[in-house]
Amino acid sequence: MVALAIVVARLQYLRSIRTIESRDAHMSSNTLHVRLYAEKDEEDVVDLWQICFPNDPPWNAPWTVIDCKLRVQRELFLVGELHGRIICTALGGYDGFGGWVYHVATLPRYRRAGFGRRMMQEMERRLREKGCSKLNLQLRRWSDAALAFYRALGYRVEDRISMGKRLG
Ligand SMILES: CC(C)(COP(=O)(O)OP(=O)(O)OC[C@H]1O[C@@H](n2cnc3c(N)ncnc32)[C@H](O)[C@@H]1OP(=O)(O)O)[C@@H](O)C(=O)NCCC(=O)NCCS
Repeated sequence: MVALAIVVARLQYLRSIRTIESRDAHMSSNTLHVRLYAEKDEEDVVDLWQICFPNDPPWNAPWTVIDCKLRVQRELFLVGELHGRIICTALGGYDGFGGWVYHVATLPRYRRAGFGRRMMQEMERRLREKGCSKLNLQLRRWSDAALAFYRALGYRVEDRISMGKRLG
């Protein structure tokens, strides 16, 4: 009887170890590597933005955005890499007073796994480090998902009038 109890206890112990190992393996296999954009990422990032922002106007063509961003504050051009593949991006800007974030996107099949949140956390950290105390963003069009995402991260719709003018 005692021997049987010992065998059962041993089996339970081994099963719990296996569960912990498989959970840890799953988590580490889903660890997002957030890093700066590098020139070799161009094709992946262009593909990602064409998928995530299919109706963007011509002046927002991915190559134009990449080119502009690399010339100003490229340290705020972040990509998220999973298993060697770029699956999300976030761009930021700081003018010494306010900060902006844009082109936050996660490839559809990787959504709702916390990757967008992770990108925003890193962007906020970098902006805070530069002295930025207020971060703004605009949505080009209504998107329940984007609204829910930013709300979940603590952003609120503010009473503002958004205006713009193309300078060239
Ligand atoms: C908005 C977007 C970036 C979210 O990316 P994501 O990686 O799926 O976001 P996360 O998994 O980190 O979501 C964090 C939280 O936001 C909320 N959220 C995100 N997407 C949501 C959705 N579709 N519906 C409801 N809540 C949502 C949830 O609270 C979520 O936490 P939970 O999954 O634990 O409930 C992604 O949907 C996307 O790329 N959309 C197209 C591009 C876009 O509109 N970008 C924003 C404008 S620049």
